[in-house]
Amino acid sequence: MSGIYIHIPFCAKKCFYCDFYTTLSLKHKKDYLIALSQEIKLRKNYIKNKEIETIYFGGGTPSLIKPSEIQSLISEIIKIFNVKNNVEITLEVNPDDINLQYVKALKNTDINRISIGLQSFSNEDLKLMNRRHQSEENNKAVKLLQNQGYTNLSGDLIYGLPKMNIEGWKNNLKKFFALNISHLSAYHLTYEPNTVFSKFLKKGKIKEVSEDKSIQQFELLISEAKKHNFVHYETSNFAKEGQYSKHNSAYWKQTHYIGIGASAHSYNGNSRQFNVSNISNYIKKVREGKCFFEKENLSIRDQYNDNIITSLRTMWGLDLIYLKENFPRKYYDFLIEKSEKLIAQKLVIKENESLKITAKGKFIEDSILLELFFE
Ligand SMILES: C[S@@+](CC[C@H](N)C(=O)[O-])C[C@H]1O[C@@H](n2cnc3c(N)ncnc32)[C@H](O)[C@@H]1O
Ligand code: SF4
Repeated sequence: MSGIYIHIPFCAKKCFYCDFYTTLSLKHKKDYLIALSQEIKLRKNYIKNKEIETIYFGGGTPSLIKPSEIQSLISEIIKIFNVKNNVEITLEVNPDDINLQYVKALKNTDINRISIGLQSFSNEDLKLMNRRHQSEENNKAVKLLQNQGYTNLSGDLIYGLPKMNIEGWKNNLKKFFALNISHLSAYHLTYEPNTVFSKFLKKGKIKEVSEDKSIQQFELLISEAKKHNFVHYETSNFAKEGQYSKHNSAYWKQTHYIGIGASAHSYNGNSRQFNVSNISNYIKKVREGKCFFEKENLSIRDQYNDNIITSLRTMWGLDLIYLKENFPRKYYDFLIEKSEKLIAQKLVIKENESLKITAKGKFIEDSILLELFFE
């Protein structure tokens, strides 16, 4: 099982929290799409003949690209790779790009899952984040997609925003669950270096939310999700039973994947590749058939630490038998010894040969992961 990620770096406006590789200019759009299709051909052998179960168009803003252009890339992938019949194909969209004409065009593609960047239902928050949409557009976009038969929908929300109080977050969650969509990705705001929010923070223009408020908002998120029968299957991800994102679950389960496009990452078990994060360089290098990525070989220790960081964030936890069978014995022994104290503190549990972080542990997840890292 494998996945393919395609990065569409174009955005119409830069959000103040975002450090994903994006560009506001569309001038390279045509050449970029050609380069993507060239890279698809070049990467034919990266994951050998493994079956592709998921394809994900992320960004940036993939909804700035015509659905017919997205479909050309999908057809190229299907031609080159061994793609499973019922492959999950996700498209990230921004709410204000969604109109009837766009959704009708989308119906002529193989896209079968849509992830919508709702972010918030408060116009004040949306303005603070420098989003280009308003709260009403969230509802309109979802309704339009649902009316045209899309049932596999996900929404992104951000909490822990400056000035956000528990009432504001509660209101966001209420409006989200009223939409009747089956998957939620809710991220606590992180202040990434070189974003406008980080600069505002340094200058004292905004204030980080207190730790108490952060925890309170996370608690509310977990309890509201439960109330609406959403399973908390990864730290920031919730879904109705069985509606988990196959693509993201694959990342967390150490599945191999190919990242296509500027700044995209790839992973094949023993190495990671990072494509250049510059659209002109990317196009030029792919066109000339030159190396367009940096490669990092992963030591056994890196692979162990990767396994800790990805699997323990999920409800499935870390598979101890897999660890025992695929890593030198010292890693298994190290983990068992380190986890004893955490088990006694009820932060971690061992269940059916899997190690899992408990509900209590979720609130200090980062420090638990650090404790279990092999230095
Ligand atoms: C790559 S973005 C693209 C989604 C789409 N372009 C949009 O903006 O609606 C994926 C998601 O990551 C989340 N995100 C990005 N930067 C973040 C940050 N610094 N803190 C918290 N969440 C963030 C946002 O919820 C965003 O929707
Ligand atoms: S959050 Fe989305 S729309 Fe905003 S800058 Fe990042 S990728 Fe672009």
